Amino acid sequence: MLDKRSVSSHVFSTFKERLSDCAEARQNIQILDVGAGLGSSFKRIYDLGIGSRIDYTVVDIEDLHVATARTEIRRWLSERGHVIRDKSPRHIVATDVGREVNCQFVTADALRFAAESSDAFDVLVGQAFLDIIPLKTGLKALFKALRPGGVFYFPINFDGISALLPVEDKARDTLVEDIFHQSMDERNDGRTGGSQTGRQLLNILPLVGARIDAVGASDWIVRPLPGSDKYSHDEKYFLGCILKFMHNELMNSKRISSESRAEWFQQRCEQLELAQLKYIAHQLDYTGRFVGE
Ligand SMILES: C[S@@+](CC[C@H](N)C(=O)[O-])C[C@H]1O[C@@H](n2cnc3c(N)ncnc32)[C@H](O)[C@@H]1O
Repeated sequence: MLDKRSVSSHVFSTFKERLSDCAEARQNIQILDVGAGLGSSFKRIYDLGIGSRIDYTVVDIEDLHVATARTEIRRWLSERGHVIRDKSPRHIVATDVGREVNCQFVTADALRFAAESSDAFDVLVGQAFLDIIPLKTGLKALFKALRPGGVFYFPINFDGISALLPVEDKARDTLVEDIFHQSMDERNDGRTGGSQTGRQLLNILPLVGARIDAVGASDWIVRPLPGSDKYSHDEKYFLGCILKFMHNELMNSKRISSESRAEWFQQRCEQLELAQLKYIAHQLDYTGRFVGE
């Protein structure tokens, strides 16, 4: 829900135009979703209503995510009145009046899978994924899956701001944010785009043969429901996870004392319980075509 609300509508509507072009040019659209998690991008894309036949491949390195994505997508399509046929444990075919979708669910390293797919796909989707791969070599591997002129859609790329409000102790808040971002920057021995992935893509995408047709912000902004002193259930849980995640990174750092860390965590958890805590994460979305290097 948070991702759906946050994605850039400008970028998504440009992606929609590119997808329509694909549907006009080809009888079935082949879509590859890398680092697909529980398959939430599928629903947004399928809901656009474009294409009478779609082949959608979900790839994730975690088998549990892939299995959950299958269950969730199957349930979602069935609730929409589609007739579902299980072609194999990892392949479903869903049909509705005038529409058919073939969904395949693959547990694999997406970079390897894409590199070995060679030109098989019309569309490449990667949501909240690029900050965990080596950016330049990873993108080169991913683009190998696209036919020339293929379309890419990369929403939710973190870009260097994780602000918790209210500001309590500016120096400490800045240090906490900095340690959190440093942990992203050190991931994979510093070979990923880390905390600056969003802005780095602006330069790197053209270097690896991608034409950026639209870029826009997709910031997560979490706050209590309007006119209420409560968060939605999901978003309270989400904020709790963010706090635990940040706290874990602080525990791995010598830059903050254990007293200061404990005080920070307790204060932020209390604010969460009182629905006083707000959170902003700055992110960027991209769409365009792979035109080749
Ligand atoms: C932040 S989640 C994003 C999930 C989904 N795209 C979404 O936006 O809801 C990143 C996903 O990438 C997967 N992942 C991490 N490294 C991967 C790799 N090398 N190949 C495929 N999947 C990977 C993780 O298991 C996780 O499901």
